[in-house]
Amino acid sequence: MNDTTKQPLPVSEEELLLQKQYAAQVRALLGAEGKPHFVYIETFGCQQNEADSERLLGMACEMGYEVTDVSANADLLLVNTCAVREHAELKALSITGQFKHLKAKNPQLFIGICGCMVSQEHRKADIKNKYPYIDFLFGTSLVYRFPQILYETMSGHCRKLYADEAVQRIAEDLPVRRASKTQAWVSIMYGCNNFCTYCVVPYVRGRERSRSAEKIEEEVRALVQGGCREVTLLGQNVNSYHGADCPDFPTLLHRICTIEGDFTVRFMTSHPKDASAALIDCMASEKKIARQFHLPLQSGSSKTLRRMNRRYTKEQYLALVNALREKIPDLTLTTDIIVGFPGESEEDFEQTLDVLQRVRFDSIFSFLYSPRRGTPAADYPDQIDPEEKKKRFRRLTDLQNEISLEKNREMIGKVLPVFVQGQSKTNAEMFSGRTEGNKLVHFKAAPQLIGKTVPMKITDATFFALFAEPFES
Ligand code: 5AD
Ligand code: SF4
Repeated sequence: MNDTTKQPLPVSEEELLLQKQYAAQVRALLGAEGKPHFVYIETFGCQQNEADSERLLGMACEMGYEVTDVSANADLLLVNTCAVREHAELKALSITGQFKHLKAKNPQLFIGICGCMVSQEHRKADIKNKYPYIDFLFGTSLVYRFPQILYETMSGHCRKLYADEAVQRIAEDLPVRRASKTQAWVSIMYGCNNFCTYCVVPYVRGRERSRSAEKIEEEVRALVQGGCREVTLLGQNVNSYHGADCPDFPTLLHRICTIEGDFTVRFMTSHPKDASAALIDCMASEKKIARQFHLPLQSGSSKTLRRMNRRYTKEQYLALVNALREKIPDLTLTTDIIVGFPGESEEDFEQTLDVLQRVRFDSIFSFLYSPRRGTPAADYPDQIDPEEKKKRFRRLTDLQNEISLEKNREMIGKVLPVFVQGQSKTNAEMFSGRTEGNKLVHFKAAPQLIGKTVPMKITDATFFALFAEPFES
């Protein structure tokens, strides 16, 4: 791939203006009914999908909807799908199936499905044939055209299943309704050029394209002025960021860190092959960047990595971790691992365990290999027996749980700054927050602290969370 493929292809101002006109037309249709209308969205998958959903909700609000978190109350239901693993697709299809009865109760309800799963032709065909109550479908390239899609569906009185645009583009300045006031996703680039042999992303999200640094800075500045305390920069491979007005990711980070205000910068995801010395130096020197790095390993076997087309070896990965820890000793390091990639032998798998033992990640996200239609690895003849995959998965998670517990216990007694997020998802009397390294921390409810970073003393630990109390010196 040459660099020109990374230059952004913008959606033109005329096209965006046209969408505003469609939004006004939908608003007029809804307004004529003289009652409030509600939108509900179900989001699967990664933070990029979360970010897309926030844009879809922003557009829906512009069209006159109010957001509800009760699907049964909705006049418009959206399912934003993921395609990275079969499990995510099956979950999205199952939820979609459950919406059928809502449509039976309320024939005025509109149901739409979007996202990575339906950017695949075979899934689009499934929706067409097996889910006749879905009113409209659009893939990842058409998010910005949501007002037009909804208007055409409403006024056309028939199903609309849209084809993705042949080349995916960047649409700036879409309305957005963010889930949090204090934390925000900021996409800096879209798509992927890496074609790891297991991964469907390059097929459903198109080629890499980077936003201009100026636009990104504008967004971050407005967020910080509005009270946002933490921005997470998003891209499938942030290290290959290359904006029309900014040569690389470290330069972008430096520019973002010069924005005035008290806020923290995180980013994901980094591809090990592109993590440069300049990036490490930038992280070490910029106080606004959280001391946290998510560095997907995928496998500890150089042979498997080659077959995955990852373009680094086990030794190169370990050297990168050493370089990171040398410059940033207090770094929190996390990773992604795929278990049971085709051809993975017991020896290959042990190489992965070996990396876990050597690196001692703070936590890992582990996945059973899931064949994705159209990707090279799905056709490799040496697929691993599902039972063997599950056994290896358990061995991997057992080992990591021990390591995570040890690492978390090392933190007991320490006083750390904790960013207070809000009520714990599992216990109403508890609140949760995150350390700078993004570790989950639970503590007694303290509503006055939401959105603040306060010192907390760590009192206890499990393998997945820390327990703390506010520290008064
Ligand atoms: N099977 C299992 N895991 C996968 N991932 C991506 N594609 C697949 C697949 N086909 C994992 C990788 C990636 C994370 C987001 O999802 O570990 O880093
Ligand atoms: Fe998928 Fe590899 Fe691109 Fe990540 S870098 S999105 S794993 S192809």
